[in-house]
Amino acid sequence: MADARRTVLVTGGAGFIGSHTCVELLQHDREVVVVDNLSNASAVVFDRIAEIAGRKVRFREADVRDRDALDAVFSSDTIDEVIHFAAFKAVGESVEKPTAYYDNNLGSLTTLLDAMHSHGVRDLVFSSSCSIYGMVERTPITEDTPASPTNPYARSKWMGELILQDACHARPDLNVTSLRYFNPTGAHESGRLGEDPRGIPNNLMPFVMQVAIGRLPRLRVFGDDYATRDGTGVRDYIHVMDIAEGHRVALERPSEASGFRVLNLGTGTGTSVLDLVDAFERASGCTIPYEVVARRPGDVDALVADVGRAADLLGWTAQRDLADMCRDAWSFQRVNPQGYDAG
Ligand code: UFG
Repeated sequence: MADARRTVLVTGGAGFIGSHTCVELLQHDREVVVVDNLSNASAVVFDRIAEIAGRKVRFREADVRDRDALDAVFSSDTIDEVIHFAAFKAVGESVEKPTAYYDNNLGSLTTLLDAMHSHGVRDLVFSSSCSIYGMVERTPITEDTPASPTNPYARSKWMGELILQDACHARPDLNVTSLRYFNPTGAHESGRLGEDPRGIPNNLMPFVMQVAIGRLPRLRVFGDDYATRDGTGVRDYIHVMDIAEGHRVALERPSEASGFRVLNLGTGTGTSVLDLVDAFERASGCTIPYEVVARRPGDVDALVADVGRAADLLGWTAQRDLADMCRDAWSFQRVNPQGYDAG
């Protein structure tokens, strides 16, 4: 029965992780309302979501910092719970434009919390990042590892978590889960939904795929002298649908005591740059030419999640491996070589 469904407000629901999470929620009997200002996303995703899930999200185009717009959404859409993705997320850009990052990423959070408070909404899942950990001494990384963010983007996520802790302290009925993602990649297995970065990609998998389709000549591997198996950087890549499932389960299993909790979402498996290139070549049949260049400033040797807490508290573990990530990312990229707007 439609009106028995719980309604989730998904901010940033047109983005990469947000759009996949919308599919997951619709397929698990939630109503979904998206607030997104489309500053780094395309409205085409809503058609794709409906195609896959067989139901539509309700889209409200607005900036999350716009309190009047949020009030209108909470009043007219009867929101039960919230997932907050909307944020700027490019590390390099955050170094150039720190105030824009703090204004957008923290202003949206405080406005949202106030609106939730006014409308009596208590459950929130927050999109956080393993970049909060910064330079770590050892992996796998547990949630108790002290935060040491190294750039304004990561600091905005860390400050967001501090704001949430304070809000939970002031308002004991608030129930917040902060999910610290490691390196999300892949795409929906249909090949209809995926990652569509604007401009030249910063991240490894999107860059590799643009080499595969011939938009870029070769991959630049940033350093082969790290203290890792083959000298290239090691990360914990996780399939975006595993991340989407993690959000759904976090809503379904709120903490028994209200308050603030933080969970890593990763696979616990480390993959080097060359491992990923190899896996992608096998999944796609393409050859990825590459050259080793200097290290990228700010990069670290290895970041791999300790995934025990999410398994204990949510009963959630990632189900998909690197071959799945490469296959699904490639099936989206192959069919949508210019991203959503050209397709
Ligand atoms: N890399 C290359 N060449 C490239 C791009 C990346 O060799 O063209 C290497 C990097 O040096 C690193 C690895 O590939 O060793 C992964 O790099 P990404 O840029 O894909 O991802 P990062 O681990 O640097 O971190 C990114 C964001 C963070 C975010 C994190 C998890 O920059 O803000 O993903 O979401 F927190």
